[in-house]
Amino acid sequence: FLDESAEQLRCEGRAGGNFHLLSLYQPQTLTNHPLYLCTDRMHTPMEKPDASTPTSPNVVVYRGLVNRPRREQQNGHRARAFWFTGLSGSGKSTLAHLVEEELHRAGIRTYAFDGDNVRHGLCGDLSFSREGRAENLRRIGEMVKLFLDAGTVCLTAFISPLAEDRHKVRQIIGEGDFFEIFVKCPLEVCEERDVKGLYKLARAGKIKNYTGISAPYEEPQHPDLVVETHVQDTATCVQTIVQFIRQSL
Ligand code: ADX
Repeated sequence: FLDESAEQLRCEGRAGGNFHLLSLYQPQTLTNHPLYLCTDRMHTPMEKPDASTPTSPNVVVYRGLVNRPRREQQNGHRARAFWFTGLSGSGKSTLAHLVEEELHRAGIRTYAFDGDNVRHGLCGDLSFSREGRAENLRRIGEMVKLFLDAGTVCLTAFISPLAEDRHKVRQIIGEGDFFEIFVKCPLEVCEERDVKGLYKLARAGKIKNYTGISAPYEEPQHPDLVVETHVQDTATCVQTIVQFIRQSL
């Protein structure tokens, strides 16, 4: 809550910046003192995390007062990303949404990102070529990063077939915030399930670059968690994942 009518006080802070009194209202949990904002230090040149991060020319970063630690404190839990990877039909979406249901009921702020959903709109211009998938996952990675800043527990359900792309996403999101969950299921079982009828079309050559049929899926070598949906029932998988997530928050 920023009170626009708050008195604008100029004073010299320890850092030598111009400070403005923003609001007389302060939540009890923060401080009893008025809130000051160093207005000439809010726009700072971006320290580029690495040379590969795309950045527009002549842009600066605005650092808001409300930051991730404060949002996490308000939420009562930390924000983390749980990246579900596996073949189409392995059960990623089913598990991610059931896990979200459990976490939501437990009062945890969540958001489930789903491959099929995100490819409507935000990534709807992308194909399933190698480049299209890489860009799809890069955008998701950047979006998840924003959601982590918002204090949200992120569950993502994307095939993300290539180890290199998953590694890049891990770099974008940040090592300590990223947990890889391998939703393991043999291709034969996924094909047998063929929930969307796409395997049949892929076998008939009507869909090109179909993961597992005409495009590769590289299994994670060191996932943080593995669930085997052809062996364990759905409830067991959900409980295993929920337990893992809760101990990671
Ligand atoms: S990813 O490879 O870029 O991670 P994503 O998870 O977004 O894929 O989308 C996968 C979903 O798109 C599948 O569940 C399936 O319904 C649909 N799909 C359409 N074409 C393909 C294809 N060529 N390969 C895999 N999935 C496809």
